[in-house]
Amino acid sequence: MRSKMWPKRAAWWLSLLLLLVLYPQSGMAAGVTITNGPVWYDTTGGTIQAHGGGIIKSGSTYYWIGEDKIHNSATFRDVVCYSSTDLKNWKWVSYPLKTTSAAELASSKVERPKVIYNASTGKYVMWMHYENAADYSLGRVAVASSDSVCGNYTYHGSFRPLNYESRDMTVFKDDDGSAYLITASNSGGGANDSLASFKLTSDYLNVASFQGWVFQNGHREAPAIAKQGGKYFMITSGASGWYPNQAMYATASSMAGPWSALQPLGNTSAFFSQSTFILPVQGSSATTYLYMGDRWNSGQLGDSRYIWLPLTLNGAAGTAALEWSSSWTLDAATGVTTANGMTNHALNKTATASSTATGYAASRVNDGNYQTEWKASAVTWPSWWQVDLGAAKNIREVDISWFMYKGSEGYYQYKIEYSTDGTTWTAIDKTSNKTYGFTSDSVNFTARYVRINMVNAVLWNNPNNWYTPTLYEVKLLGN
Ligand code: DGJ
Repeated sequence: MRSKMWPKRAAWWLSLLLLLVLYPQSGMAAGVTITNGPVWYDTTGGTIQAHGGGIIKSGSTYYWIGEDKIHNSATFRDVVCYSSTDLKNWKWVSYPLKTTSAAELASSKVERPKVIYNASTGKYVMWMHYENAADYSLGRVAVASSDSVCGNYTYHGSFRPLNYESRDMTVFKDDDGSAYLITASNSGGGANDSLASFKLTSDYLNVASFQGWVFQNGHREAPAIAKQGGKYFMITSGASGWYPNQAMYATASSMAGPWSALQPLGNTSAFFSQSTFILPVQGSSATTYLYMGDRWNSGQLGDSRYIWLPLTLNGAAGTAALEWSSSWTLDAATGVTTANGMTNHALNKTATASSTATGYAASRVNDGNYQTEWKASAVTWPSWWQVDLGAAKNIREVDISWFMYKGSEGYYQYKIEYSTDGTTWTAIDKTSNKTYGFTSDSVNFTARYVRINMVNAVLWNNPNNWYTPTLYEVKLLGN
């Protein structure tokens, strides 16, 4: 008995010793795990309501301020403020702005609140998109300010900056204390045709000057800005209501522009999210840029989820990259992130399909490039795409980047089929899927062949499925 126990005990002590050597302060892996997809709860168990929000750090505490959609409506209920020191455990603090804060807030819409701190006035200044309750025809910003980050905020009213229309917006405070408003405006081609750039007054309570159009007639929304290596990065989405679409980024050497051409970021749907903010997490050994996106649920807005991913910004090269991770670790103290360490077993393995349109080879689905796609040769449902992994692999997650078509978004009803011999198949039924643009399924099977069986696509604004089966990327993750 004793001799049998000994090797086990020795192994246990050895692992403990190893942990202590690796993580001397805590004896445990440092940081928190960010899990994308599920509902996020605050420290008292309420669902976090901070949609379209942003984060501001004050002292060593982060404050997450966003829209409350608990009533499952686009109308204004309140702005909510949460606090956290680790960016994972969020404590509800207050409602900085309420329907009773001003007469015009009683029946209205308030979206994308963003707070910046003005060092000379000592005020926290909140900018937001303001509309009436019924529609999006006003096209205004609103401004409020407070002596403390979580309020109460004094409401200063809504307006069109220098008479320009203003809808999806953000504010950005630069290192030199200058601040800017970037907003979806109208340069003559209709609502949201172009972004407009403004410099704010030194108290941040108004706009001082119009700096020009950005991506004129590009129909960009949801701007979010960060600065890395002396370069400004702007992430935007396309305009497709609550539906996700391909995020794009651009760079500039000055907030006055010019901005570079738009470059795609992440997959066809920003991993089913829409940008709202980029948070620099400045730790003791690294700065991580946190992409914050909203996964809107238009039918139940209060159940819209948050997608947070590490964003790779390279100011010197002028490049940005965003990769999906269903869970990853963030240490707010050091700024260090740790990936989940899984391998994409499908990458560059032999792929085939039920049919292939010329120029859209099956291999484009597992080439690691979110911008290349396979397409069936005709509008044939079902169609399938298949990969031979070369040997049996244990697969734990299946990530699929689906076709998105602006304004006619469709979700795919599909089956994940797997086989060890290419003859006998087992199916995981995902025909009840209603997720647009990107699906990430937790699985646990061991197989050499994996097939994505596209049974049907359902279009939200068109009952007839005219889609040609198309896949952008399939990742089969495992250890
Ligand atoms: C897209 C915007 O980005 C959201 O903030 C919201 O205004 C929706 N449109 C409403 O359809």
